[in-house]
Amino acid sequence: MTKDKVTPMSPEKLVKKYYSEMGTKEWRRLVRDAYQRLEFDTTMHFLKKYLPKKGLILDAGGGPGRYTIGLAKLGYKLVLFDLSSEMLKIAEKQIKKANVQQNVKQIIQGSIDDLSLFKDNTFNAVICFGGALSHLIDETRREKAIDELIRVAKKGSPIFVSVIGKLAVVISELVSFPKEIEIKEVFQSIRDTGDYHGGYGFAPCHFFLPEEIKASLQKRKVAILEMAGLEGLSCGHRKETNTLFKKYPNAWKIWWETHLETCTHPCAVAMSAHFLIVSEKQSS
Ligand SMILES: C[S@@+](CC[C@H](N)C(=O)[O-])C[C@H]1O[C@@H](n2cnc3c(N)ncnc32)[C@H](O)[C@@H]1O
Repeated sequence: MTKDKVTPMSPEKLVKKYYSEMGTKEWRRLVRDAYQRLEFDTTMHFLKKYLPKKGLILDAGGGPGRYTIGLAKLGYKLVLFDLSSEMLKIAEKQIKKANVQQNVKQIIQGSIDDLSLFKDNTFNAVICFGGALSHLIDETRREKAIDELIRVAKKGSPIFVSVIGKLAVVISELVSFPKEIEIKEVFQSIRDTGDYHGGYGFAPCHFFLPEEIKASLQKRKVAILEMAGLEGLSCGHRKETNTLFKKYPNAWKIWWETHLETCTHPCAVAMSAHFLIVSEKQSS
């Protein structure tokens, strides 16, 4: 991360600004290379494992709509919800391009800590991926968002959340931004609280330890089904992962199997840049 030149703004405005400037880069993020695809393909793997065969899904913080489109293609009905109007404009275009408009019932701008537009027990599944929850740096709002994601899910339905992992960020400071280790408001704040307040090339963010999101969900009426590291053992090894994919297709198949076998190991979860937690809203 490198220091931005910005005037003071609320965390929410900084998040909106960041994603409006990201534009189509965010749309391409998950398919840029084999390493990035691990996040998308691993998430899709667990979606296929736990989603009901059909139904209405809320894609909360769905951004430019990769998952909305992926799931709409599988026949699910979707509501796409995001903070950034720019992300939603891109999503609209891509949804049309993919010709899945008939399955995308609504596209709505808002913050995931206020889903009051939706009644309790509305959706057959709720997904919130790629760090939308991490971008709520205020703990009270973050906790409210978790309540909201659960509230709008039908009883017995799966709730999938992926967040940005704190340990991977700490390691990336060592590998890519060593000078920042001296900057208290960046490195020590992330190390000690998980909070990054913005100003150094990324939007404000709370980086999670697995036990933190797990404990937060366990306080509520949900059962934890599974956790997975989305980059898993490849985390931090972009070049090697991409080389394997490009040059050694047979080895890649074995690596992908290895990834699926190991990504639920607590170490792989904790070390991943993004990790997924799958839970189910309790019926009573
Ligand atoms: C890294 S993108 C992930 C997009 C998509 N879920 C994915 O995984 O491809 C993070 C998204 O979260 C959205 N976001 C951030 N804070 C949010 C909030 N409080 N409510 C709703 N969306 C939010 C951003 O606008 C952005 O589109």
